[in-house]
This record gives sequence, C-alpha cells and structure tokens, in this order.
Amino acid sequence: MCGIVGYIGERQAQQVLLRGLEKLEYRGYDSAGIAVFDGGAIRVKKRLGRLVNLEETLNGHGLAGTVGIGHTRWATHGRPSDVNAHPHGDCSGRFAVVHNGIIENYLKLREELQAAGHRFRSETDTEVVAHLIESLYDGNLLRTVLRAVSTLRGAFALVVMSADEPGRLVAVRKHSPLVIGLGDGENFIASDIPALLSYTRRVYVLEEGEAADVTADRVICCRLDGTPVEKDVLRITWDVRAAEKGGYDHFMLKEIYEQPKAVADTLTGRLSDDNRAVLPELGWDAEQALKVDRIHIVACGTAYHAGMVGRQILEKLTRIPVEVEVASEYRYRDPIYTDHTLVVVISQSGETADTLAALREAKARGAQVMAITNVVGSSVAREADHVVITWAGPEIAVASTKAYTTQLVVLYLFACYLAQLRGTAEPTVIDEVLAGLRDLPDAVSQVLDTAPAMKAFAQKFAWKESAFFIGRGLDYVAALEGALKLKEISYIHAEAYAAGELKHGTLALITEGVPVIALATQDHLYEKTVSNMKEIKARDAHVLALTWAGDEEMASVADEVLYLPRISSWLAPAVVAVPLQLLAYYAAMERGNDVDKPRNLAKSVTVE
Ligand code: M6R
Repeated sequence: MCGIVGYIGERQAQQVLLRGLEKLEYRGYDSAGIAVFDGGAIRVKKRLGRLVNLEETLNGHGLAGTVGIGHTRWATHGRPSDVNAHPHGDCSGRFAVVHNGIIENYLKLREELQAAGHRFRSETDTEVVAHLIESLYDGNLLRTVLRAVSTLRGAFALVVMSADEPGRLVAVRKHSPLVIGLGDGENFIASDIPALLSYTRRVYVLEEGEAADVTADRVICCRLDGTPVEKDVLRITWDVRAAEKGGYDHFMLKEIYEQPKAVADTLTGRLSDDNRAVLPELGWDAEQALKVDRIHIVACGTAYHAGMVGRQILEKLTRIPVEVEVASEYRYRDPIYTDHTLVVVISQSGETADTLAALREAKARGAQVMAITNVVGSSVAREADHVVITWAGPEIAVASTKAYTTQLVVLYLFACYLAQLRGTAEPTVIDEVLAGLRDLPDAVSQVLDTAPAMKAFAQKFAWKESAFFIGRGLDYVAALEGALKLKEISYIHAEAYAAGELKHGTLALITEGVPVIALATQDHLYEKTVSNMKEIKARDAHVLALTWAGDEEMASVADEVLYLPRISSWLAPAVVAVPLQLLAYYAAMERGNDVDKPRNLAKSVTVE
C-alpha cells in the first residue's frame, strides 16, 4: 500500500508531485521518489525515509519539467532503501514506473528478463514492470503497458512514463485504487483524492481492470483489453481543509475532535420524526428484511471491532444469527451461506485487500453484500449490492477514530432499521437505541472533556511494558478496540480480555503496578465486572475504571475513575472509544512516537 501521483501539464511537476505525496504519506512512508522528464531524459530522485528526506535532497537540486510521477512507499518486496524506493526504471532509462500492490509472478519474470540480458538494480517486484515494458515497447506506450500488464499476476496499480512519448502518462488499475484528476490543460493521477484536491475537484475513478491514457489535454480510458470506456465525472465536495490538520498537532487528534460532527453527519436524515431508522440508500421493504436469515460481518482491525459491536446489537434487535470474522480468515474459510445470507463488509477506506476479497468471495457464492464504508466510489462501495456511507469525512491518521464511531452509528441504525421492518424487537429497546443515537453527538462532545485526565493518566503509565483492558459484553469489544489503539501508536504491549476470562490464565500476569483499564458501562454486567476488578486489585494492579457519571461505588473499587456522560448502555462503545483514543494518543506523544504514521503500518492495507 503505497501512494502514487502523476502530473502532466504546464506547471513544474516536482511541486505538484511533492504536494500530492504529502497528502498520501498515510499510505506508506518508508521511502519516496519522483521522476520528471526534463525535455531530454527522465531524471529520478529517491530517498529512504520520510518525504522530507526527499524534499531536502531536492532542495537546490530540483528536477525541472512539466511531466512526472511520484511515489511514497510501504515496503513489501525488498527492504526500505534508496535503491528500492520508486520510481523504478529499465536498463536504458527510457521508462519510469511507480507501483502500488504486489506482482505475484515477479520472480519468474525477473529470471526471464535477466536471462534476456536485463540488468536489475533493486530487490523489488516493481522493477520487473519497467524491464518488461522496455522489452515489449512498440512505439505506443498505452499498447505496450497493456501487453505488459496481461502477463502480470497480482493486485496492483501502475503509472508509467516514457522518454520516447513524454507527453503521455499511462495508468492501470488492477485491484488497487487510482483516480484521475481533470484539470484545464493539465491532468493528475493519484491513489487517493486528497492528493488532487488542491488542483481539481473533478475526477474519474478508475474501475477494476481499467487503464487511462493521460495527456495534458485529454484523458482516454479503456479496459485492459483496449476496449474504450466512457467515464462519468465525479465531483468531490469535501472541504480541502477537511483533509488538512486545521491547527491540530496531528491528524489523529483532529479526527478525535471531529467525532461529534462526524457522528451527527452520519445520523443526518436517518432518524425520522416518528422514531424510525431510515436508510433510503437501502430502500428495503418488510419482505426483503424478513428474508434475511443469517448475517456475516466481515472486516479488518478497528472495522472488525465495529462489526463485533454490530453483532450484539443486530442479534438482540433482529434475532438473526450473526457471525463476525476478520476478512483475512473469512476469505479462505469456505463459509457456509444459506439462500438468504446477508454479508456486511465494513471498511473505512473501502480498499482493504482482504475485505474486498471477502466481498468478492461472498458475491461469487451468491450472497447479497452490503458495504459500510467511508469512501464514496471506493472499490468496496462499487462492488457491493448495497452501500451505506459513514459520513466521517477523510480520515488521514493511520489510527482509525472517527471512522470507528461512525461505523458504530451505521450499525446501530441498520439494526433498528431491520428490526423495525421485521417487527422483531421490543419497541422499548428500539426506542432506547434510537434515543441513544440522538444523544450521541452531545455525549461524544462532552466526553472529549476527559482529555486532560487521559493525558495525565497516559503520562504516568506511558513507560510501562504492558497494559490490560477488561470488560464484559459490549465493554469487552470496547476493550479490544482500546487495546488495539494503544498498541498501534504507543507500541505498549496491550491486551484486552473478557473480564470473566482473566482467572483462566491471564491473572498470572497481573502484578503490582500493572495498569488495567476496566470498562464498566454495561448495567446488567456491572456487579460481575466489579468482582473481577476486585480480583485484580487484590494483586495490586493499578486500575483505571471507566463508568457512568453518578456511579458512587466505583471510587472505592478502582485507583482512579473516569466518569462518562450517561447515555444508554447500548451506545456505550461509541462513548468509551473516545477516552481510549485519547489515552493512546497521549501515551504515544509521551513516548515521542510519530502518532499519525506509526511504525510498520499504513492507512490503507491494499495488499494481503
Ligand atoms: O480501511 P479499513 O477500515 O478497511 O481498514 C481496516 C484496518 O486496517 C484499520 O481499521 C486498522 O486496524 C486501523 N489502523 C486501526 O486503527
């Protein structure tokens, strides 16, 4: 999962490419590079490390020219290094290629090309493409790239430039996203829309198996077999500042603070005055809703945790059996489908390779697929039968925050929507969930006030080796998400346990001073959780409890208590998430980590 940009027009390409790469660094950031045609030849500069290293290298030694390609990398084949950074070239230096994804048959192709005399410089799969194009070139870059692509296996996006045809860039999408930005006398290519927003709001989203032949004056799209394709222009309505930091130190903090609005936006138009959940994009009737006899929820990481919350709500309200599974397992498990299984895939980016593969597997097996995603026009959105968008706005930080809370909102809405159509739930339960949803933007706003307390707690425990999160029921799922967030950005070893499970092994790790974050928001499980906390306190751990405002008992049980604005227990995961995100954020800050770009990770995981 890397970031790709391309530019062709009248501006100096270097500036456009660097600016675009800045916006794409969330996709990968172990090295970066650009290639620019200077009127005579293709010049390439690339550097190990963050984009800033490349910018320093270019300072005073910039590349002049008005056509170029750029790349920010997240290594898959070949360690991060100057030489493995993209763009990659052929033997003659006439072609340059940037690539996102994996070429699965690169070893065989590399051997064949080496046997034919091609000299390789890097350890990457990408370099194969440059040499392959060199070996096949017939004077027409588009035709040659399409021929080359027909011999490649895997999931990838490519942009190719040639010194022989410098007025042209060729872009190919095979399972990896690419958008073409449409300008006036100039055009742009990028892996994601934020890279284009400073220049244009009109884009073509390349579909699966499409290519684009891009010059300064026109963009022609075709299928990989060369068949022409007519594209619709997508107009982007995002505010440019929404994709920038807007005064916050980090995107993650900004995105945490955007949650009241993101939640409110996701609810807009979806709660009717007569207290019904409305999802016009589904437009189902009772017959359709009653047919569904099984639900599979499939997602990765944080989106999977949202799915775990969804399971509990859906089962409670609809009485449909729900399975939830990580996509990387689901896609290979040969799941059992009934004739009316509904598969719900959840993905912020809509481009996660495993989730997309699971969606395709489900469709191939005849299941109906509904996608919950944050990106209109993403692969998941385009391929699913039904789509419900989370209106969180662009999420840039690698750690998912507002995408998670808005995924929860959609799942609550969907559960109420199905239950109301099926007539399966007690109206009082539905009313409680819907009332909770109405209260949610305010509750999320109020819980942001816990930031100083979470900062103080984080500063105290940031150098501990490990931390534990416990809870029961929905609190257990919230604990899983809290632990993931902490691991991901603070690098503190964190584990989440169902509170009742501790004494089956893990209690052995609870010793003096070990931080334990205990969640106690589930009213019907409160006493049980308190008992588990007492077992932990008896081993001298340091317990921070998160409970509702008004809880008078907790202060005598835990070492520290964080009080949450009271809302229905059903909605607790969406409220609890916020202080746990803040805890992870401040622990990472205390340890001096790069919060928005944690080590070894990338925002959008478009490889398996
Ligand atoms: O874009 P997606 O929602 O499909 O991404 C899924 C996971 O990669 C993502 O939620 C990941 O776990 C986050 N970095 C966690 O904060």
